[in-house]
Amino acid sequence: MLIMGIETSCDDTAIAIYDKNIGILCNNIYTQKIHAKYGGIVPELAARKHLEKIIPLIKKSLLKIKKNLNDLDCIAYTEGPGQINSLIIGATVAHSLAFALNIPIIPVNHMEGHLFSIMLQKNIPNFPFIGLLISGGHTQLVYTYKFRKYKILGYNIDDAVGEAFDKTSKLLGLEYPGGKNLSKLAKYGTPKRFVFPRPMISKKNNFNFSFSGLKTFVKNFIIKKNLTDLQTKADIACAFEDAVIETLYLKSLRVLKKYNIQQLVISGGVSSNKKLRIFFYKNFKKKNIKLFFSKTKLCTDNAAMIAYVGSKKISYKEKKKYRLSQIKINSKLSL
Ligand code: KG4
Ligand code: ZN
Repeated sequence: MLIMGIETSCDDTAIAIYDKNIGILCNNIYTQKIHAKYGGIVPELAARKHLEKIIPLIKKSLLKIKKNLNDLDCIAYTEGPGQINSLIIGATVAHSLAFALNIPIIPVNHMEGHLFSIMLQKNIPNFPFIGLLISGGHTQLVYTYKFRKYKILGYNIDDAVGEAFDKTSKLLGLEYPGGKNLSKLAKYGTPKRFVFPRPMISKKNNFNFSFSGLKTFVKNFIIKKNLTDLQTKADIACAFEDAVIETLYLKSLRVLKKYNIQQLVISGGVSSNKKLRIFFYKNFKKKNIKLFFSKTKLCTDNAAMIAYVGSKKISYKEKKKYRLSQIKINSKLSL
């Protein structure tokens, strides 16, 4: 069964083709650079770019694996959460193609995609496991009983962790996208010159996250100290990164202990952070926790994870459910 995945929830136009028996055949991503000069994503520009890039990317993907549209058995697309203007482009292209080809269409939740991107690699976890999802829009700790059976144990009550990285990097005068750039600068920082608060760690049984206060703390810190030299900026970046990493570590550890689980799957754009990976490997090893990180191209936004979840959702028995004539088109999309 050949499934095309379409992902347009934010600023990446992504197309992947997944074969249920073989695995990923292609995983193409176009990252929109246009937003850098505005310091953040401009929704209308993002949607226009998706529209410009999506068809050429579909053509390129099919060409690469020497298939054509008629070879596709179904289409999976990201229905949400994400930027509505961007989502609509992917949803419309997916619906139009499915209608023209008369094949099933499967709406996929973006976070479910992140949670299961690990399944596209060799080393996979057994159920149940805990998922730590750390992206631009979400921070979640998810008890994963099995496919489609989850309990969200903790979530961001304000800024998501990626959002906090992006906003803090802006405060430091770095270019968007901020997470990666802040991390690069932090490498030159003096460890522990500054120590920033670890938000919401005093309540042991509260697994929610709040990074907005940390971002404001950095903002006030910069104003108060009137610090402008590059070394100080690097030291601030380092202190911010350490505070975030340790908070994520502590919360995850508490959840793993409480639910007596020994496997942690970490996904979403922030999980590509090298310092976080090193810290987690070093500290969770001591606690006998097995970690599962996807490679960068699979833990940041991509369409392979969407195609994969689509492939799991559709079984031959369920095929009818996803026929265009059967599904209720959700004009609101689930955000
Ligand atoms: O999962 P993702 O690709 O898209 C969303 O679903 O949001 O995550 C994007 C987020 C952005 O906030 C970006 O700054 C952050 O992931 N990010 C990083 C790194 N690479 C991407 N944050 C920290 N360190 C990185 N190396
Ligand atoms: Zn994402």
